[in-house]
Amino acid sequence: MKGKKNNIILIGFMGSGKSTVGIRLSYRLRRVVEDTDKMIEKRMKKSIAEIFATEGEEYFRTLETKMLREAIKKKRYQIISVGGGTPIRVENRKLLKRLGTVIYLRVQATTVYERIKRDTSRPLLQTEKPLERIMELLDKRKEAYENCADIIIDVDQLPMKEVVELIANKLEERGVK
Ligand code: S3P
Repeated sequence: MKGKKNNIILIGFMGSGKSTVGIRLSYRLRRVVEDTDKMIEKRMKKSIAEIFATEGEEYFRTLETKMLREAIKKKRYQIISVGGGTPIRVENRKLLKRLGTVIYLRVQATTVYERIKRDTSRPLLQTEKPLERIMELLDKRKEAYENCADIIIDVDQLPMKEVVELIANKLEERGVK
């Protein structure tokens, strides 16, 4: 793609392991890692849950787009993990593709549920029936994730260490340094 940058972008549903994989990959590849959720929290001096509660989801989505726009301007190439809902906006999918090689950590609903069932930091999953909500959101987002992915990794059966190795190998095959 014209003007595509050399960043490594991690996308995937909540609980797919983006943040953990990002940190491990940064050690493995000796690259700086950033997480757009953390960038937003730092900028707003509020947690994601507070932003959802006070400003609402659309406002949060606009902040996600802003973070991607800022990342595109940076000269230093890095690893960037983004929030699970970032690819739902068409504009964000275009930005993600321009930013670099997009790696989709694909995960099944039951795995997500097991990983996040005691977590209260994700506003979209604070419902009576989180598993149903996960299934519904995954189904809605599936196409968006697949549409912007250069590499897809099915993470359910893999320890994080193997996910990182697999990504490093696939990036090497593609000549991403
Ligand atoms: C969201 C995922 C969260 C966070 C926000 C919304 C989503 O990030 O951005 O709660 O819409 O899937 P993680 O995927 O890092 O949990």
